[in-house]
Amino acid sequence: MNHLFTPYKLKELELKNRIVMPPMCQYAVLNKDGIAHDWHYHHYVSRAIGGAGLIIIEMTDIDPDGRTTDLDLGLWSDEHIAPLKRIIDACHQYGAKVGIQIAHAGRKAEDAELPVAPSAIAYDDKSKIPHALTTEETKEMVEKFRLTAERAVKAGVDTIELHAAHGYLIHQFQSPYTNKRTDEYGDDPTLFGKQVIKAVKSIMPEKMPLIMRISAREYVDGGYGIEESIAFSKAYQDAGVDLFHVSSGGEGPILAHGKPGTHAAYQVPLAREIRSALNVPVIAVGRLDEPVLANAVIGNEEADLVAVGRGMLRNPYWALEAAVTIGKETEIPGVYGAGFSLKK
Ligand SMILES: Cc1cc2nc3c(=O)[nH]c(=O)nc-3n(C[C@H](O)[C@H](O)[C@H](O)COP(=O)(O)O)c2cc1C
Repeated sequence: MNHLFTPYKLKELELKNRIVMPPMCQYAVLNKDGIAHDWHYHHYVSRAIGGAGLIIIEMTDIDPDGRTTDLDLGLWSDEHIAPLKRIIDACHQYGAKVGIQIAHAGRKAEDAELPVAPSAIAYDDKSKIPHALTTEETKEMVEKFRLTAERAVKAGVDTIELHAAHGYLIHQFQSPYTNKRTDEYGDDPTLFGKQVIKAVKSIMPEKMPLIMRISAREYVDGGYGIEESIAFSKAYQDAGVDLFHVSSGGEGPILAHGKPGTHAAYQVPLAREIRSALNVPVIAVGRLDEPVLANAVIGNEEADLVAVGRGMLRNPYWALEAAVTIGKETEIPGVYGAGFSLKK
């Protein structure tokens, strides 16, 4: 069975296959203005031509000070909408659906003069000590997520992904490692994430699914594990998340013995656990670039979708090659079939 190439539907998001291009920062903005340009256009549209079912545009920030670097994409103002729309429309033309990952880097905002975070704890000894957001400022941040999501919908996305992984702002709130607050956002470390989910959902079309990317375990000493992440994911699911994109780590500098595995499919067990504990669809990610393996992850019902990151940086036509490798007749565009020795 060619599980990888079966269609998938969640609410009104209909994908032609199970292959996702995960968000990958290009650090390619030209004038530190967050505006997408030709590099982004060609980068994403070539993966659409290359057969990806869902493309999730890289981490795109809700605030200039929420960027990991000044070269990130932004969506904090209306002038960001049209260049993104141009990319999204073109991807649609080639049969891919498009999501966008919206984010705030919090204390990982390297170029911000004064980064912000739940608590005034620096990422490492080379990073600035962030300003701890006041309760009022935290509420304003929720509103910035809402406004950004509204712009994403105007740009024509099919889904939105909230970045709650890799030690960025939502993760910083939910983790006891970075959240030492004494207000309501400390009493309930999932409160910020839940408020963001509800705010974003309030403007999304009802049938558009919301994705959340989580770090399902931390690697710092004493960091949370899968039990805790099942609990917070349940809270996020109840608040409105439709699909989890299961990653891990990124919360802080880690000791050699805590480093994540770099073997094939290393995060699939986490995706499987979240999927079965919450009875929720998941995207698995992390060294799944062997097509037979990616196909098996779907076939074994460990995940509903698989994301291939570095594999697609190497090869925009990863999905087309995967189809040929696992013997699936798929639509190879035009004369590209000749490149795959297919009879037309
Ligand atoms: C160049 C690069 C940029 C990335 N940028 C992001 C990002 O913007 N947001 C995110 O959640 N993950 C980001 N990631 C992580 C990927 O989405 C993915 O989870 C990771 O590369 C593991 O998948 P892979 O083994 O298929 O590459 C990035 C990875 C790479 C290589």
